[in-house]
Amino acid sequence: MTVSHLLSIADLGAEGIDEVMGLTDSFVEVSARPIPRVPALRGKTVVWLFYEDSTRTRLSFEQAAKRLSADTMNFNVATSSVRKGESLRDTVLTIEAMGVDAIVVRHASAGVPWQIASWIGASVINAGDGWHEHPTQALLDCYTIRKHLGGVSGRRVAIVGDIRHSRVARSNVLAFAALGAEVTLVAPPTLLPPSLTGWPVTVSHDLDDVLGRCDVVYLLRMQRERMTEALLPTLREYTAGYGLTARRVDLLDEKALVMHPGPMNRGVEISAEVADLPRSLVVDQVRNGVAVRMAVLYLLLGSGVAL
Ligand code: NCD
Repeated sequence: MTVSHLLSIADLGAEGIDEVMGLTDSFVEVSARPIPRVPALRGKTVVWLFYEDSTRTRLSFEQAAKRLSADTMNFNVATSSVRKGESLRDTVLTIEAMGVDAIVVRHASAGVPWQIASWIGASVINAGDGWHEHPTQALLDCYTIRKHLGGVSGRRVAIVGDIRHSRVARSNVLAFAALGAEVTLVAPPTLLPPSLTGWPVTVSHDLDDVLGRCDVVYLLRMQRERMTEALLPTLREYTAGYGLTARRVDLLDEKALVMHPGPMNRGVEISAEVADLPRSLVVDQVRNGVAVRMAVLYLLLGSGVAL
């Protein structure tokens, strides 16, 4: 499959997601070597353009690019000429003029990665645009489910929490549904999107009821930085209704998995002890994220280069 950007998970479809999964297997093998590095992207340059905070996504893209022998450049918005009033377009054209092959972008506004892709020739990877999409998170989550449950097709996945403000939820629903999973959204009405028309999901407001019949419970953080009004009476009430506590874990099938994209707010959407259970895959998701991002960079920049 030939793609020049990864903006939405819809750019890949089921076939493209499967291709990334297969490539990821190769890069998991590379990552386990004593020297976990291949020359696939030697001579290519990847730059990060993060207008929003990140720990996992930025570092794992950096680790992925280095393991592929790409050169990397980090752009720190807080210490850049953005603070002197430079526009997004001028910033991007400036970076492109230095010779870059891929820009990994995170921005608070939905659609920014598409705008950037229309301005430049380099590949653009969406690392999170506002509430909209976060395709590499969806890919690493599909990979993690496939690894632990043998596949995504037919699996029942409950996504619980602040769906309304979550780009992870939007990309993951598209990816899980493309691969044939049954997705249930579980949230109080105020934390659901205003319209779910066209979403391939069912909705529940009763977490206890859903837990007994799901293979994966996928928790989301309250995106308080995106809330402009009071959508919840208190966090305590949210936790009482929707938090994954030790009592609620007992309602799960013994093989059911707990996932979370991070950062976790322990004691809110997930209790501290549940976060540390063997069935909680939070750390494995991060580990898989490096190999998945190697696969994405390779697909966009390195196809044709032997591994
Ligand atoms: C998420 C994000 O930034 O969209 N984090 C991540 O990339 N793993 C989720 C979040 O911030 O809650």
